[in-house]
Amino acid sequence: MLSKKEQLDELNKRMSECKKCILRSTCKQVVSGAGSAEAEIMFIGEGPGQKEDELGVPFVGAAGKFLDEMLGVIKLKREDVYISNVVKCRPPANRDPLPEESEACWPWLEKQIETIDPKLIVTLGRHSMERFLPNQKISQIHGKAMRRNIQGLGARVFYTLYHPAAALYNGSMRGILTEDFKRIPKVLEAVKKSENEKKDEPTSINSNEDNQETLF
Ligand code: URA
Repeated sequence: MLSKKEQLDELNKRMSECKKCILRSTCKQVVSGAGSAEAEIMFIGEGPGQKEDELGVPFVGAAGKFLDEMLGVIKLKREDVYISNVVKCRPPANRDPLPEESEACWPWLEKQIETIDPKLIVTLGRHSMERFLPNQKISQIHGKAMRRNIQGLGARVFYTLYHPAAALYNGSMRGILTEDFKRIPKVLEAVKKSENEKKDEPTSINSNEDNQETLF
């Protein structure tokens, strides 16, 4: 049985050879992800930017520095978490990923989540949120933890944040993002507690038509 780290290494190797969408023809390299294979928290952004494309590591530009800063506030380092993106190849001129590009990249992200099996998935920005929590408004659900059943992945807990790049030069959004970020440790504890409580409870957790349950 391969360790999670070995499985991720194997996955990253296969990802680096991916040509499933057009993005691979314009980017420098595939930016698979970075961090601990044993992470309890997985952050998912939108897609690599210029710096990430050059270095092959997610969130290393200005938004990444801000992310590191916020991780520091909750006493975490990027090595303690896992950081990835909806698309692993840089969209030209940093445009938004097209739906077919996100779709083509989904099996990689799905496999990363399945392998790491984080307790909490933190979505960064609208595009990442939409991948898991469709038909939601980020202005309404940021800072909230939601459990949702994802086909192929089972029930997962998501915590929605504004994208650090959007908050960088917007004072009020920066304040909101920082406050939401500070709640992550408490949210993680609450997720673990609710998991323990549910262990003896074989009933479905799906609580409404949207297959979505707001937790805290
Ligand atoms: N923005 C993202 O969404 N992802 C990165 O890796 C860098 C910036």
